[in-house]
Amino acid sequence: MLNELQELETRALAALAKATTLPEVEEIRVRFLGRASGELNAFMAKLPTLPPEERRAAGKMLNDVKAHITEAIAERAAELEAAAVREAPALDLSMPGRQTWRGGRHPVTLVIEEIEQIFRQLGFTISLGPEAETEWYNFGALNFPPNHPAMDAHDTIYLSDDVLLRTHTSPVQIRTLQRWPPPIRVLAPGNVFRRDPFDASHAPGFAQIEGLSIDEGVSFVDLKATLTHFAREFFGTAITRFRPSFFPFTEPSAEMDVQCRLCKGAGCSACKGTGWMEILGSGMVHPAVLEASGVDSDRYSGWAFGMGPGRVALQRYGIPDIRALYDTDVRVLLSLSE
Ligand code: PHE
Repeated sequence: MLNELQELETRALAALAKATTLPEVEEIRVRFLGRASGELNAFMAKLPTLPPEERRAAGKMLNDVKAHITEAIAERAAELEAAAVREAPALDLSMPGRQTWRGGRHPVTLVIEEIEQIFRQLGFTISLGPEAETEWYNFGALNFPPNHPAMDAHDTIYLSDDVLLRTHTSPVQIRTLQRWPPPIRVLAPGNVFRRDPFDASHAPGFAQIEGLSIDEGVSFVDLKATLTHFAREFFGTAITRFRPSFFPFTEPSAEMDVQCRLCKGAGCSACKGTGWMEILGSGMVHPAVLEASGVDSDRYSGWAFGMGPGRVALQRYGIPDIRALYDTDVRVLLSLSE
């Protein structure tokens, strides 16, 4: 038995010397020292059957062999662990640093660019006008009679008797028509200012995009087809509706709603429970507006719209409250930055 134990130890140490991974070492431990079927246990079971004079020496040898193997296992495991650390890829100091996030474009900017791209494909170019406007461009040329109630919704800050912060981008219609002869197809993005309260879908200062298309023989069919095309291009699939409306500078006039994409029409805070989000006002340009701009209204006709890209951004990005676009909470930008 003593020889057999000696032989077992030799085999165990040889196996350990050959082991190159920690799982192999564990396998060896189970094979020799395992409680259930470990080889050493088999000898342990035989111990009581030995004559008493041999039993003592065999018992001591058994303990010694066990201790040697246990120690050898711990040593081999430690060696292999150290080797694994040494062989791990070294820190590469020549690697470029990680880019830190330096900011993202605002959702309204992203939406305006996307809208411009869709209309650019239809032949529209960009036209810009000033944010400080005269009363004539903001109201008079747009066929607002003096003191007309439609102006109540357009109360704004006056910088002097005649100069005010524009309440819509529609004055750019006049400036564009004065400068270039038809055919005209332009988009006019920019900021506008009103007495609107801050709520889930309104703000006192916001971006608008004006659209204007003037040529011979342009009809309401063109307006409806173009805006429906836009909504489908922008949203993929979009359920839209046109509601009759009133603006002094268009006749007839219509507002376009898209079915609220946040609640799929069920009604939520963003759409004020209606299931629809108004995204633009539109209509056939009133002949008085063409005449005020020096365009022959017998020869030319056309349509215009004024869209709220903030509202469109809520729909596009699933933001439930327009105030989030003003809160400068970087999480809003972070979640949208490419
Ligand atoms: N200017 C209008 C507004 O701000 C929108 C509009 C633009 C309506 C062009 C018709 C045509 O509400």
